[in-house]
Amino acid sequence: MFEPAITGSGVFTPDQSISNDELVVAFNAYADAWNADHAQAIAAGKAEAMQHSSSDFIKAASGIERRYVLDKTGVLDPAVMHPLLPAREMDQISAMAEMGVDACQKALDMAGVAAVEVDAVICAASNHERAYPAIAIEIQEALGTGGFGFDMNVACSSATFGIQAAADMIRAGSIRRALVVNPEICSAHLEWRDRDCHFIFGDVATAVLIERADLAKGPRFTIKSTRCATQFSNNIRNNNGFLRRTRDGHMEDRRDMQFMQNGRKVFKEVLPLVSKHIAEHMDSEGVEAADLKRLWLHQANKTMNDYIGKKVLGRVPEDGEQPNILQDYANTSSAGSIIAFAQYSDDFAPGDTGLICSFGAGYSVGSVIVEKTT
Ligand code: COA
Repeated sequence: MFEPAITGSGVFTPDQSISNDELVVAFNAYADAWNADHAQAIAAGKAEAMQHSSSDFIKAASGIERRYVLDKTGVLDPAVMHPLLPAREMDQISAMAEMGVDACQKALDMAGVAAVEVDAVICAASNHERAYPAIAIEIQEALGTGGFGFDMNVACSSATFGIQAAADMIRAGSIRRALVVNPEICSAHLEWRDRDCHFIFGDVATAVLIERADLAKGPRFTIKSTRCATQFSNNIRNNNGFLRRTRDGHMEDRRDMQFMQNGRKVFKEVLPLVSKHIAEHMDSEGVEAADLKRLWLHQANKTMNDYIGKKVLGRVPEDGEQPNILQDYANTSSAGSIIAFAQYSDDFAPGDTGLICSFGAGYSVGSVIVEKTT
């Protein structure tokens, strides 16, 4: 058995961002226009007037202050209310592959590894822009990596499930190195016209390079242990897919073809699931709360992270013990915990231990215990 280690990480951040204030102005203009268009139905009690959104609510309920997106013009146009992402020609690189390549290259550079030395690319994300050929194989081609590539989807937990898959292949000896890449174009599957969730998501891509520890050229995060779990729930759902049909078989454009959630239920059900998962994982590996220098958690909601941090450590986390990036990036699905890891891991000394944890739709939860090694 070989030991796997994370030797590089990379983040691609789009150059456009939207503040809560900008977002709310667009949403409220859309709501006013919708209400004017439906004035008669509203007056007759046949339709409910749309309410205004507010920056204060968004910050208080989620901790989110802004989000990066591939296109803000469409999102902020009350007559459009979605990103304008033109279809690409067959001979152009896809949007997910393009941002994924950027993140992967940064991870390779950090580790001092050439693309050709990589045996597998796993593109783990919550939505894929096409069915096949796999985005991972396109990234493989663009980077010039060897071996194979495949796409996988476990929603917000895609990154940690991908890390487990890569780590297991390295342990077993079937590959020496893998890139696990998470290009998340969440803006394209968010319903920007729904007041309850229009502020939740942003776009980003992250990547980690996982290598056989004995081949690593520099400092690394040894993957001590991984654990994944799922439990079916309809509370976070996106029905888009090739069978997006009505009961009598016709194609239809419906609200449930975009991200939907029952946020309150998610809070209630996911928090105990995640806390128990982490506690059992740590227990089985003999890791105590006092052994953990840092938690890099999924970035969906500040209140959720505060709760999990307190539950895992048995006290309110001190500054830096459980860093959040969601104020700047919003929820970036599977990429969130990896952004936190990439931005807050430089100060680890040999022997320091940390835990990456993601959770979300499925439900799904994945945790990775790492130890800094020189
Ligand atoms: N602006 C102003 N008010 C809003 C609003 C908005 N954009 N959206 C909702 N509200 C109001 C609601 O109307 C409600 O008012 P009421 O009490 O008078 O009925 C109130 O705010 C509370 O709404 P609720 O949806 O219960 O808010 P919340 O406190 O649960 O926060 C979320 C909403 C989505 C931020 C929160 O539920 C959440 O983050 N849940 C977990 C999400 C998650 O992890 N999802 C995983 C996705 S991968």
